[in-house]
Amino acid sequence: MTRTSARLAAIAPSATLAVDSKAKAMKAAGENVIGFGAGEPDFPTPQHIVDAAIAACADPKNHKYSPAGGLLELKQAICDKTLRDSGFAAEPANVLVTCGGKHAVYTAFAALCDPGDEVLCPAPYWTTYPEAITLAGGVPVIIDTDAKSGFQVTIDQLDAAKTDKTKVLLFVSPDNPSGAVYPAEAVKAIGDWAVANGVWVITDEIYEHLTYGAHEFSSMPVLCPDIAEQCIIVNGVAKTYAMTGWRVGYMAAPADFVEKLTEPRHTLSINTCTVSQFAALAALTGPQQEIEARGLRSPWRDHAPHAQRDRRCYLPRAAGSVLLLPRHVRSAWPGNPLSRWHD
Ligand SMILES: Cc1ncc(COP(=O)(O)O)c(C=O)c1O
Repeated sequence: MTRTSARLAAIAPSATLAVDSKAKAMKAAGENVIGFGAGEPDFPTPQHIVDAAIAACADPKNHKYSPAGGLLELKQAICDKTLRDSGFAAEPANVLVTCGGKHAVYTAFAALCDPGDEVLCPAPYWTTYPEAITLAGGVPVIIDTDAKSGFQVTIDQLDAAKTDKTKVLLFVSPDNPSGAVYPAEAVKAIGDWAVANGVWVITDEIYEHLTYGAHEFSSMPVLCPDIAEQCIIVNGVAKTYAMTGWRVGYMAAPADFVEKLTEPRHTLSINTCTVSQFAALAALTGPQQEIEARGLRSPWRDHAPHAQRDRRCYLPRAAGSVLLLPRHVRSAWPGNPLSRWHD
């Protein structure tokens, strides 16, 4: 018997944190390393967002709990932003504000999985997903993809992996860590497959703005409206607005679902920090040009070609996003989960 619950004992230590600490330790020892751990923008939160947070801090009405599902004005801003950026039309009743995208990811799995329910999880994946699925009581079913398919899961693979316990498909585009951006036809085909098979989709759209070249992000419930009643969109302000520490994420889901989820949200932590919610409101409603100019696209343009040239990084050929894979991962860290997908 373990001291903790079996569910907690089953969770693997965070690979992201391990990579992060190792890179920091190597840097501290004077080594010239590129950290591939936590994904943090390399610019500060824009000033107008910080100013909105300072103003919110100074107003005593914001020293109190907010509604558990999020400030109504933030929910409305999320709906406006979603319509503006992906074309998906949501109402505030479809939105639940969370403490970061990570919290939205776990909340979505917890809301859908009964013990033993299977979640199809294309690989390579962000290491949080299988742990969040396990913690929620589900069973991650890993589907390997490779460079030949541009790290994109195919309908044949989904058919082969589906069982009568399959409850959810996790869909991530642009993907972390492969950088794959699924073309619109593939997004629609996968959405149609999920509808036909009665499988829920959790679609993580947090990297929606981080595409380059001819690659374009498309939102599954926009291309496949039939999926809307069995789809949860996960997103957040962390990456686009350099707000990783502010901890504001959200999900857009069917309204009855959000209503049910607001109760446990209340039980566990009541609300996302009110001041951070005002900062997120300023991010979503404020000027977007600066974000475009300073966003992760510019570090991509500035650093990626250099990192590739000095042969420390590998860009999957079909990648449409900003993510690079470390080239020597196999020799640097045998057993690292990324080694399996490396060329
Ligand atoms: C694919 C993906 N989804 C969601 C998140 C969650 O980000 P946050 O919890 O900082 O909002 C991350 C963070 O690295 C991520 O890579």
